[in-house]
Amino acid sequence: MEFREIVMSRYATKKFDGRKIPEGKVSELLELVRFAPSAINLQPWKIKVVTDQKVKEQLKPATWGQEQITSCSHLLVFCANPDFDSLIKKVGQLMKTSGVPEEARTMVIGIATDMTGKMSGEQKLCWAQSQLFLALGNAVNGARSLGFDSCPMGGFDPKEYARILEIPPPLVPTMLCPLGYAADKPMPKVRFPKEEIFF
Ligand SMILES: Cc1cc2nc3c(=O)[nH]c(=O)nc-3n(C[C@H](O)[C@H](O)[C@H](O)COP(=O)(O)O)c2cc1C
Repeated sequence: MEFREIVMSRYATKKFDGRKIPEGKVSELLELVRFAPSAINLQPWKIKVVTDQKVKEQLKPATWGQEQITSCSHLLVFCANPDFDSLIKKVGQLMKTSGVPEEARTMVIGIATDMTGKMSGEQKLCWAQSQLFLALGNAVNGARSLGFDSCPMGGFDPKEYARILEIPPPLVPTMLCPLGYAADKPMPKVRFPKEEIFF
């Protein structure tokens, strides 16, 4: 499928038909998510993959009763990770084992340490959360490219999600992406005209 067709045919699915997506396809999607870009490549996210129907039933009331949660095949819970100190260490190690020259490593780590060192906890979380949306973008368009549907969802209670899914701090559930095969039809696309957006 052409990228244009993927973007234009993707829509926020309100109900899935309950069919399971083959695990191979889900793995392909998770790779597309994993390769999303992030500032200084710190990848400040962890993504919980929920398939257990009982758990999904538990999560539904914490998602304002939205049907996508129980009718989907897989539910991705995108959690922001604001622990930049650990991420910098991890990326530094990974760059070393991946053969990135020491000079480049030192420069990247220096920039990352300087930037994040000046941030408050709130700023770190906000920065992590904003980057997570790029990974979410890969998920929703990636799903369409692989022949299934999705819905980006922010209408849920992050504290309840953390409790039910035993997501440890400092991870913060930020966005949901249920995946499956749509059982509804897309609404007409409603978008502001070009002239109002681009200037
Ligand atoms: C941050 C964010 C939060 C959203 N939360 C929900 C949600 O809780 N439930 C839902 O059905 N759709 C949700 N959506 C989907 C939007 O309503 C949808 O993308 C928008 O209306 C445009 O429609 P389209 O995606 O079908 O083109 C959310 C989208 C974003 C980006």
